[in-house]
Amino acid sequence: DKGNHRHFMLKEIYEQPIVVAQTLKSYVRRLDDQVSLPTPDFDLSAIRRVTIVACGTSYYAGMVAKYWFEQFARVPVDIDVASEFRYRQPVMEDGGLALFISQSGETADTLAALRHARSEGQKIAVVVNVPTSTMAREADLLLPTHAGPEIGVASTKAFTCQLAVLAALAANLARAKGRLDPREEKEVVRHLSEAPAAINGALAYDEAIEAMAHLIAPARDVLYLGRGTDYPLALEGALKLKEISYIHAEGYAAGEMKHGPIALIDENVPVIVIAPSGPLFDKTVSNMQEVQARGGKVVLISDYDGIQAAGDGCMATITMPKVHPLIAPIVYAIPVQLLAYHVAVLKGTDVDQPRNLAKSVTVE
Ligand code: M6R
Repeated sequence: DKGNHRHFMLKEIYEQPIVVAQTLKSYVRRLDDQVSLPTPDFDLSAIRRVTIVACGTSYYAGMVAKYWFEQFARVPVDIDVASEFRYRQPVMEDGGLALFISQSGETADTLAALRHARSEGQKIAVVVNVPTSTMAREADLLLPTHAGPEIGVASTKAFTCQLAVLAALAANLARAKGRLDPREEKEVVRHLSEAPAAINGALAYDEAIEAMAHLIAPARDVLYLGRGTDYPLALEGALKLKEISYIHAEGYAAGEMKHGPIALIDENVPVIVIAPSGPLFDKTVSNMQEVQARGGKVVLISDYDGIQAAGDGCMATITMPKVHPLIAPIVYAIPVQLLAYHVAVLKGTDVDQPRNLAKSVTVE
């Protein structure tokens, strides 16, 4: 049931404040300001390396997690898409945790990668939205998202719920490694708990984004740029747009533009820049200005401070609530999803059932 929404995708975008809060309830305790996990049957503090494997949007959630695990827990992370991981003979040493992320828990490549990692002696952690799925059954450490059934082929609420679980996992790992003191843990809990309200704040820009979609819909190609955890978000934005609007889109690390892709820039290629104010803001803005100097039309997604500092000269801006960098990827996922959605509606595509795609890819 779509409720009063035109598509399942839009309904699912709007469910995010509730389902992210629901998911966080299992992983953060406001009462004693602690992050918590279901107790693994192995010692988290002994994990020496994490290997993350997934496909599509779930893979991009994994990319964000790589930044978090390395930054907070100082644990080395390897990450790959499942279809590559399976066949490249990856080296997995003892004491490794292999982490699989999947909405459905049935994606054939991810499941095969899981079984391969197990045969190589890795502990298996699974972030999955369908608790009865095959991957859920095969996990040593099951970390469910509580997004509820996701019907739209384009993944939305599963992604933000995956990020919520992965942030909590990163904090748990950091604590187990002695790298998160109680004061820092309390801060993590506080920031994560702010996510649902911030998502609500982001949803308030739906109409503005709908109006802006008219600027993107005529384009043949669209680029997305971001740095740090906003880089995977740029990739996710491009995937979402391709998948449901059939417009060609690519995501790049903002700093990579000058190594090639900037040659694509002209007034016909809109560039979506994802840049919350924070430590990497100035760097991203200078990449944005390189694009503008070549006639590129920029849409800047930032917060009030960011837009004040760098919004002049942009084709359009989207103002997000000001949030802590930890939850920025969760909150900035919303405008990225809404933009793809409204462009697709303008293009008249079948938003919930885009051509050539299935909700769950159970063949290799
Ligand atoms: O069920 P999974 O999370 O394993 O699915 C992985 C991908 O097939 C999925 O995320 C796909 O990329 C989505 N359609 C993207 O919106």
